[in-house]
This record gives sequence, structure tokens and C-alpha cells, in this order.
Amino acid sequence: MRWIAGIMVLTVLGSLLANLFGPSPEADPVPAGGFVSSKQCQECHAKVYEEWSNSWHAQSWTDPDVRALSNDFSNTDCIDCHAPKDVFSTGPGKRVLPRGDRRNQGVDCLACHRLPESMGGGVAGTTDHTGAACRPQLRTELARVEYCGSCHNQHNTVDQWEASKYAIKGEGYKDCRDCHMPVRSDGAGRSHHFKGGHDMKLVRSAVTLVAKRDADKILVSLTNHGAGHAFPTDERSRAADLFWRKTPADPNQSGGWTHLYRIRDPYRSEVDIPRTLVDAGETLEVDIETAAGEGPIQVALFYKLTPYYRDMETGEAIPYTQITEPSLDAQLVHRVEVGP
Ligand code: HEC
Ligand code: HEC
Ligand code: HEC
Ligand code: HEC
Ligand code: HEC
Repeated sequence: MRWIAGIMVLTVLGSLLANLFGPSPEADPVPAGGFVSSKQCQECHAKVYEEWSNSWHAQSWTDPDVRALSNDFSNTDCIDCHAPKDVFSTGPGKRVLPRGDRRNQGVDCLACHRLPESMGGGVAGTTDHTGAACRPQLRTELARVEYCGSCHNQHNTVDQWEASKYAIKGEGYKDCRDCHMPVRSDGAGRSHHFKGGHDMKLVRSAVTLVAKRDADKILVSLTNHGAGHAFPTDERSRAADLFWRKTPADPNQSGGWTHLYRIRDPYRSEVDIPRTLVDAGETLEVDIETAAGEGPIQVALFYKLTPYYRDMETGEAIPYTQITEPSLDAQLVHRVEVGP
């Protein structure tokens, strides 16, 4: 009896010690054959894993908008970046290749961090940790914009950034990580949420909207002061629209808007539509001449994840110039008032 109790005390002590000192880096070495699933990272990198799970990177294969537009990936060109092979197997900056396994994990830990055997295996990190089970190596490429560009330059986000003031070395320098992977509030590492167009707080921080009355028109200006690239960037599905209306009795009432200006990079097939994105640091100026004689008016900017306005019941496309109710599936970015 005493002998068994002794073992139990030892076991309890052992697990207490293990809990105190955390999983020892050597205790759980890289599985034979290397890591095969990002779930294997969860145990030791719980915080990063949780952030990533809630990111759009984790949903790039299951995202309903992508599935719809790619015809459930029967357009196989779409697999490349939405279920990519490891960035380091093709080389950061080079376009990624499609993979055949664990597709529903989308752009996962392995796609971004795993190193090929020719580079010593293990994972790409920001310092060398010789003791750690996943064998992290310092790879300076992780911190370069070209790394994001392996998937994010299809619609020129990296080129747009290169042309912006943020790319100039010095005080104002900010790269993709500075805005999309902010250092966590506890100072340890960078967020893996990768907020983008789905986050209206971030979208609002990109632009300022100003409207002023002039002698015979209303002057509207929209400045991209917060995005390190065009507003909106990258995905041709994104669109933003300026609208105006006479200020209604209840200023928060919906409807009654007149379309003023569309901001979008059209699909290649839409040959007659110009590119109207607002580049980093640029100001777009539009006049409303018809509103000059009106009393107080409102000007608003709405943002859409998919470009076309559709009747919510019939699904039929409505030309955006005929839209009077932009709130159909558009999100209000900013609204300003112009006095009489
Ligand atoms: C070269 C890499 C690459 C390829 C190839 C690619 N995409 Fe993407 N896709 C991206 C990136 C990067 C984003 C995120 C950028 C953004 O949302 O602005 C994205 C975002 C999207 C979105 C928006 C997702 C959302 O949640 O709103 C859709 C829809 C989409 N892609 C569809 C497609 C379709 C359809 C194809 C094939 C015709 C395709 N993609 C091929 C890289 C790629
Ligand atoms: C058995 C525990 C364990 C597992 C499993 C594990 N890691 Fe690690 N990892 C560590 C430890 C310990 C460190 C070094 C200390 C730290 O940064 O937390 C580390 C460091 C890292 C770093 C470098 C951090 C830096 O400072 O730049 C990266 C990147 C990384 N791990 C990625 C991964 C990925 C991706 C996976 C899954 C494929 C994984 N790890 C699986 C324990 C683990
Ligand atoms: C889209 C690419 C991408 C994905 C997906 C990704 N990472 Fe990272 N990760 C990075 C980059 C870039 C850095 C380096 C940031 C820097 O320069 O400090 C990084 C940093 C890290 C670090 C260093 C410490 C920290 O918290 O910043 C760890 C650990 C890590 N990643 C683990 C993981 C794990 C585990 C997963 C999956 C749950 C994952 N990463 C998914 C790109 C990615
Ligand atoms: C291996 C390919 C790949 C790499 C590398 C990559 N991304 Fe992505 N990223 C994607 C894809 C695909 C999506 C679209 C996900 C979806 O379907 O919504 C995306 C989406 C995003 C989004 C948009 C989120 C939203 O709200 O729609 C941001 C922001 C982003 N990535 C930033 C980055 C940054 C910054 C880096 C570099 C540190 C990076 N990504 C590296 C493939 C990649
Ligand atoms: C100065 C801050 C800043 C820098 C630097 C920056 N971004 Fe952004 N990014 C933003 C803001 C703000 C938005 C939201 C407005 C928009 O879509 O333009 C955004 C949006 C995005 C989106 C989301 C597009 C979507 O449709 O969901 C992607 C992808 C993205 N950025 C990638 C990058 C990449 C890649 C880099 C580096 C080459 C980069 N960003 C540099 C601030 C920044």
C-alpha cells in the first residue's frame, strides 16, 4: 500500500513539475516525417493558434465568397493561394503552388512557416531556438513585404505599397506587419488575426471624408491616409461608393441616397470601367453640382466586400447608379453633414 502511495506522490510531483516548467522543448520532438497538420502547433502555441483560427487565412478554403466565385474550386487556378504549398518550398516572393492535402486548413502555420529539408527542416522564425521541438531558425525573409507578396501581389498590393511613402526608410516607414500584425498588447510576438476588409474598424481608419459647400457646388474629398496601399486594395471584389442625399428629418433614416462615385479596380473582363482606386496618401475630389441649391445634405461612403448590388429577395443585380438604399449589403464607412 505504502509503496503504491509513494508512486502516486511521485507521479503527482512529476506532473506538478511538468506544469510548472511547461512542456519541455525536447520532450515532444518533431514527429517522424515532420509536421503534417497545423493542429500539431496548437499545444505549444495556443495563443497564435487561436488568433489564426479566427483569421481569414484559416478560412481561405472554406470562405463562402471564394467558393461561390471559384465554382467550388472547379476553377483549379484558385487553389494556388487559397490552399497553398509552403511558401519556403517555392521561395518567398515567388508565387505559391497548389497543395493536395489538408486543404480545409487554408493558409495555415505550415504554409507560412515550414522549411523544406534542403533548408534544414523545422520552421522559419524571428530567432534561432536550437532547443525547441519545432526547430525554429531565423529567416529574415519572414519580415519582408515580398513574403506577403507570394500571395498578395496578384492585384498589386505590394507594388502599391512600394510606391507609397510607407516604403521610404526612416521615421514614417511601415510595412505590412506594422499594420496587419501589430505587436500584441503584452509585447510578446505579433497578432496573427490579420485584419483586413472584414474589419470595419480597420476600413474606417483608412480614409477621411470631408464635404464643404462652395458657391455653386458641394466639394467632396476623400483622403487615403491610413492604408499602406490603394483603398480598397487587392481583391477586385471590393468596392466603395460615395452617395449623397438631402438630410432627412430623422438623420439616421435609411434610403433616399443618390450615387455619386464608385471606387474600384474592375475585373479584367470589364473593359469599359476605369480603375478608380484611391492610392496611398492621395485625395479623391468630386463635386456635387446638383446639390448646390439644396438645404442641408449628407454625404456618405459605403464599403462592399462583393462589388455588385443585388436585390436581396430576387438576387438580381441592380446597377449601382440606381441604388437608393446602399445599406442592402454595404457597410457605412463615414457620413458627413453639410449645412445649408
Ligand atoms: C496569387 C494568389 C491568389 C490566387 C491565384 C487567387 N486568389 Fe483569391 N485571394 C488572394 C488573396 C491574397 C486574397 C485576400 C486579399 C483580399 O481579400 O483583398 C484573396 C481573396 C479572395 C476573395 C475575397 C474573400 C472574402 O472573404 O471576401 C475571393 C472571393 C477570392 N479571393 C476568389 C478567388 C478566385 C475565384 C480565384 C480563382 C479565379 C482566386 N481567388 C485565386 C489570393 C489569390
Ligand atoms: C512541443 C512544443 C512545440 C510544438 C509542437 C511546436 N513548437 Fe514552435 N516553438 C516551441 C518553443 C518552445 C519555441 C521557442 C520559444 C517560443 O518562441 O515560444 C518555439 C518557437 C517557434 C517559432 C519561432 C518564434 C520566434 O521567436 O520567432 C515559430 C515560428 C514556431 N515555433 C512555429 C511553430 C509551428 C508552425 C509549429 C507547428 C508546425 C510549432 N511551432 C510547433 C515549441 C513548439
Ligand atoms: C500568413 C502567414 C502566417 C501564418 C498563416 C502564420 N504565421 Fe506565424 N508568423 C508569420 C510572420 C510573418 C511572423 C513574423 C512576424 C515578425 O516579424 O515578428 C510570424 C511569427 C510567428 C511566431 C513568433 C512569435 C509571435 O507570436 O509572433 C510564432 C511562434 C508563429 N508565428 C507561429 C505560428 C503558428 C503556430 C501558426 C499557425 C497557428 C502561424 N504562425 C501562422 C506569418 C504567419
Ligand atoms: C501563402 C499565401 C499567403 C501569404 C504568404 C500571406 N497571405 Fe494574407 N491572405 C491569403 C489569402 C488566400 C487570403 C484570403 C482569405 C479569404 O479567403 O478570405 C488572405 C487574406 C489576408 C488579409 C485579409 C483579411 C480580410 O479581412 O479579408 C490580410 C489583411 C492579409 N491576408 C495580410 C497578409 C500579410 C500582411 C501577409 C504577410 C505577413 C500575408 N497576408 C501573407 C494568402 C496569403
Ligand atoms: C499604414 C498601414 C498599412 C500598411 C503599411 C499596409 N496596410 Fe494593408 N490595409 C491597411 C488598411 C487601413 C486597410 C483597410 C482599407 C483597405 O482595404 O485599403 C488594409 C487592407 C488590406 C487588405 C485587405 C483587403 C481586403 O479586401 O480585405 C490586405 C490583403 C492588405 N491590406 C494587405 C497588405 C499588404 C500585403 C501590405 C504590405 C505590402 C499592407 N497591407 C500594408 C493598412 C495598411
